[in-house]
Amino acid sequence: MCGIVGYLGKPDRAYDVLIRGLKRLEYRGYDSAGVALVTDDGTLNVHKAQGKVSNLEQKASLGDTRGALGIAHTRWATHGEPNDINAHPHVSQSGDLALVHNGTIENYSVLKQALIEHGYEFKSETDTEVLVQLIDYIHRNNHCSLEEAVREALLQVEGAYAIAVVERGNPDRLVVARKSSPLVIGVGDGETFIASDGTPIVGYTDKVIYLKDNEMAVIERDKPLRIVAIDSNAPSEIDIQELKLSVAQLEKGGYDTFMLKEIFEQPETLRDCLRGRIASDGRVVLMGVEMNKDKFLNAKRITLVACGTSWHAALIGKRLLQDFCKIPVEVEYASEFRYGNPVLDDKDIVIAISQSGETADTLAAIQLARQKGAFVYGVSNVVGASIPRNTDSGTYIHVGPEIGVASTKAFTGQLTVLTLLALAIGQLRGAITKEQVKQVTDALKEIPETIEETLKVNDKVEDLSKIFTYAHNFLYLGRGYNYPTALEGALKLKEISYIHAEGYPAAEMKHGPIALIDAEMPSVIIAPSDSLYDKIISNVQQVKSRGGAVVAIVSKGNHSMEDIADHCIEIPAVPECLTPIIASIPLQLMAYYIAVNKGKNVDQPRNLAKSVTVE
Ligand code: G6P
Repeated sequence: MCGIVGYLGKPDRAYDVLIRGLKRLEYRGYDSAGVALVTDDGTLNVHKAQGKVSNLEQKASLGDTRGALGIAHTRWATHGEPNDINAHPHVSQSGDLALVHNGTIENYSVLKQALIEHGYEFKSETDTEVLVQLIDYIHRNNHCSLEEAVREALLQVEGAYAIAVVERGNPDRLVVARKSSPLVIGVGDGETFIASDGTPIVGYTDKVIYLKDNEMAVIERDKPLRIVAIDSNAPSEIDIQELKLSVAQLEKGGYDTFMLKEIFEQPETLRDCLRGRIASDGRVVLMGVEMNKDKFLNAKRITLVACGTSWHAALIGKRLLQDFCKIPVEVEYASEFRYGNPVLDDKDIVIAISQSGETADTLAAIQLARQKGAFVYGVSNVVGASIPRNTDSGTYIHVGPEIGVASTKAFTGQLTVLTLLALAIGQLRGAITKEQVKQVTDALKEIPETIEETLKVNDKVEDLSKIFTYAHNFLYLGRGYNYPTALEGALKLKEISYIHAEGYPAAEMKHGPIALIDAEMPSVIIAPSDSLYDKIISNVQQVKSRGGAVVAIVSKGNHSMEDIADHCIEIPAVPECLTPIIASIPLQLMAYYIAVNKGKNVDQPRNLAKSVTVE
């Protein structure tokens, strides 16, 4: 996590570009922020503040913010508590170098000890300060260029990093490098931008270069950009690509929060997600499957790996793949998979699901899977991110930038793509008939309108939220396709309202969580009219007979729950495999309104970050 931005270009423009860029990257962390600027006469000015970028802005505006060169950082704390001292940029003891870093230096304590022996003193508790001191040490002792010192230092470093370094006395040069953490270079007219993703760059230029792992770049005024491999110093090819993002996509568009905007834009985002993927005869066309038919035909097993909300999507993906492809499917947390000695060979397919495409554990999981010979398929949102670039093939969910930290539209986009993927693989393997495919794709084509219809529950959910705002615990229950929906509903509530919530398979509840149920603990039960409806009715009765309040999500027109549950929220009827997409809408709204009622910052919940690029 953490977001970095850098700029080299026009007189006194750096500060504005950096602050705007940091605001766009706040989703990556907001524990502290900082900026380092080099003025035209070579003075290095550093400003840092605990908390959000707005705090930094207030503080920095009292100081010197001139300069055409600068670097900036927004932090999600890993080493050392969030305070001004641990905030980046970190400055070397000599005062010559300033550095921002996203990632983790794993061998920092060994390096730190060696530097202390060479007389270096440390102010912060961060791993990053070690790196800037190490570069400084090499720079001074080897009498080499900054670029060479950075490269030498990185050869000694273990871990993950995207870094940017500037030097006092040199207003014309910015050195950047990456390994396992993302870095994008924006090529403008007489100005160059660097950032953790394209969002700080959009609006300035649409020409970008995605720096590859183990590459560093030297950006100098009036000189061509140079990119080299860190280990060999050999020049790399410069591949300029188009940044497909618009400023409008990054704004709130009249909503109070990004999360609410993203909930309400789901009809549109799923339209984009489905575009061109269902043929007129109802067949599914996914290029990633078409181009790798042999792999999908010969596969003996599929393993889905992901983290967080994407892992919940993976659990639903398992059901879809089992139902439509009749193939064994496993689901693993990426963090467990990567250290779990997975047994894989070339008949295995690993599907990695990640909104950001940058989650460190998921990235490591796919690298391991590929080493072991598996065919790795990515389901990501951010075009050009590390995961889509490190997979054999894949499908983008195309739901546009998701800025609210709690995932909403990406989840429904992932479910849509997983449904398409399961159908595409199933039809290829002959595991499902054309008619069955068409039945689902007909409903999928209508999904944007069905979500529009579902969103009409907004006012009812907002009213209901007032009853439950002060509950301390919640239980979310579902069965079959909607057991993972229950997990996701509980996660949404936890993430943004800080209420403890547990998702559970409804029938399993009687083996433990039922002991918690009393009048103070509401249960949200996802009970569409599907193959398990009759079963879940008895689970609702079990909750009711212990005095717990029940909010039931039911299919429109089904009134049988009204006598049992305290409150019913009706959602449109869809085929069973699509119910998680629809049922998650009221759950998103419920979490949203409870958090708003409690006065919480829903877009930037405490301790969380959108993109988790550390282990
Ligand atoms: C973080 C985010 C979650 C997300 C998870 C996985 O925890 O806050 O919303 O589900 O990372 O992220 P990914 O980008 O891989 O889907």
